[in-house]
Amino acid sequence: MASNPDTSLKNRHRLVLGATGAGKSQLIRELIPAKGIRLLGWDTDEDHEGHHIENRADYARLVAKALRSKKPFRLLWAGANDLKTFEWWCELVFAALDGRYPTEILIEELADVSPSAGKASPKFGELIRRARKYNGGLTMASQRGTEISKTVYTQAAEFWIGRQEATDIPRMSRLAAVTEARLTAVAALHYIRKNGPDVSFYKLEFTKNGRKLTELSE
Ligand SMILES: Nc1ncnc2c1ncn2[C@@H]1O[C@H](COP(=O)(O)OP(=O)(O)OP(=O)(O)O)[C@@H](O)[C@H]1O
Ligand SMILES: [Mg+2]
Repeated sequence: MASNPDTSLKNRHRLVLGATGAGKSQLIRELIPAKGIRLLGWDTDEDHEGHHIENRADYARLVAKALRSKKPFRLLWAGANDLKTFEWWCELVFAALDGRYPTEILIEELADVSPSAGKASPKFGELIRRARKYNGGLTMASQRGTEISKTVYTQAAEFWIGRQEATDIPRMSRLAAVTEARLTAVAALHYIRKNGPDVSFYKLEFTKNGRKLTELSE
């Protein structure tokens, strides 16, 4: 069971949306610190750094061990990519949260485990609605914003919108609060960040030493 709730904690859930190759996973690598944190991830394509695990018993055992150790960890699920397994994982992640320590919760390609654009599946719904108080911050990615639960839109505090397929431009431009023409002009590795009323623009570049995320003037 999640422990030590703290109602004063901020909502830091965020959703990254963009077509394949838009740069969602690369952006997430930049947004989530590479070291020194608690990270539980759903990463079936193995796009992120960490310990990838394909077996439920091993995953549960390693999470329990990591929690006992009080040290940073990065435990990424890389097994079955179906709704039943996702519900199991969400329940396990929620139980691992402890309000005294921040935990980053990464979910890659959320549409794969979204039954509809309606209400979230039960355990995912509980995780996204209750994680904040237990110091959990969800970072979610999806290629198609139209296929994921409306609960995600009501719970996320921040949206990063990258290059979109033409059919998604109308809805995603409303979400980003920019014109359709402005969103159409967004290239790979460029993003619109929407946080409450604030809209800002970013680009990600690859440098000799890694990546660099820079804010643009418009
Ligand atoms: N080392 C690198 N140097 C330059 N560009 C890179 C490098 N690594 C990745 N890219 C670029 O990053 C983009 C891919 O980003 P990423 O894998 O984050 O996409 P994605 O949105 O997560 O796609 P998908 O939905 O298929 O997972 C491509 O445009 C690719 O050319
Ligand atoms: Mg990706």
